Amino acid sequence: MYPNSRPRRLRANHAIRSLVQEHHLSVNDFIVPLFVVEGTSVRDEIESMPGQFRLSIDQLIKEAHEIQSLGLKSILLFTKVSDDLKDNAGKEALNPNGLMQRAIKAVKENCPELYVMADVALDPFSIYGHDGIVKDGVIVNDQTAAVLAQMSVSHAEAGADMVAPSDMMDGRVKIIREALDKAGYINCGILSYSAKYASSYYGPFRDALDSAPSNEANIPSDKKTYQMDFANKREAIREALLDQDEGADILMVKPGLAYLDIVQDLKENVLLPIAVYQVSGEYAMIKAASAKGWIDHNAVVLEQLIAIKRAGASIIASYFAKEVAQWLKDGK
Ligand code: PBG
Repeated sequence: MYPNSRPRRLRANHAIRSLVQEHHLSVNDFIVPLFVVEGTSVRDEIESMPGQFRLSIDQLIKEAHEIQSLGLKSILLFTKVSDDLKDNAGKEALNPNGLMQRAIKAVKENCPELYVMADVALDPFSIYGHDGIVKDGVIVNDQTAAVLAQMSVSHAEAGADMVAPSDMMDGRVKIIREALDKAGYINCGILSYSAKYASSYYGPFRDALDSAPSNEANIPSDKKTYQMDFANKREAIREALLDQDEGADILMVKPGLAYLDIVQDLKENVLLPIAVYQVSGEYAMIKAASAKGWIDHNAVVLEQLIAIKRAGASIIASYFAKEVAQWLKDGK
């Protein structure tokens, strides 16, 4: 007790602070999310996500090399397909020569050591902007899960190291695992978005992919029948335990900062590695406030990312990954 115990002794200077620092960031922590579009030489900046781009495959390869040279090791691919390829069945998602399949192949050909994860959900391919097939105003579960399993096999065939179902259909991890194994892809992993909340932080991402749920009559205008209610906590543990049993390799909590209690809950209740997705809205908020000079950009980014690790995540999908890798390289 005071005066024998003086916690400030361990804060007296940089050296002692570094010695007692409990959590650290490293390039090994990050997954880099990337957006892919058709075309060549396309590097189209997303308005609500300054510094993030929709990339054509040739530019994606350039980006992949840069990511590797920064020491980052894994990417998560999302595709924006043109409206005429969208339907209510996810047909284009299964096209062996589709944009996602070509993007995966191109990255694995050019950067074989980069670990490639591919998003699995129907929203980029859906005329209704939903993560599943819509029937009579309902996002149907089992039929959607069957398509997601085929989609996963198609990504594995293209060379994906891991598939990342972001849809929140019940039972899809089991069905995907079975389909991958049956097709011989026993080493293709599954990163499951286990606790994905119906969040308003996804806005900029939906701008990026033009994937917002439609406003048509009789079509749900939000994703609340499959993504989780942000008022719920115990349900996240239930989802995580199910995914662990069904054969997921990594569990994800999404969004990040507002859900760190959930990260801690999962850490205490499951044994799989836990990832957090620091989502587009979180990125946009930091970019916007710092552009106005209202917050210190780099300091806030580091504070939020360390908070995510402190809560128990060992993996972070973040749009800041490249910037942080550069700071780490520069010894900042
Ligand atoms: C959809 C998906 C979303 C994100 C990743 N996959 C948005 C949504 O559920 O509508 C959001 C990522 C972000 O905001 O950065 N399957």
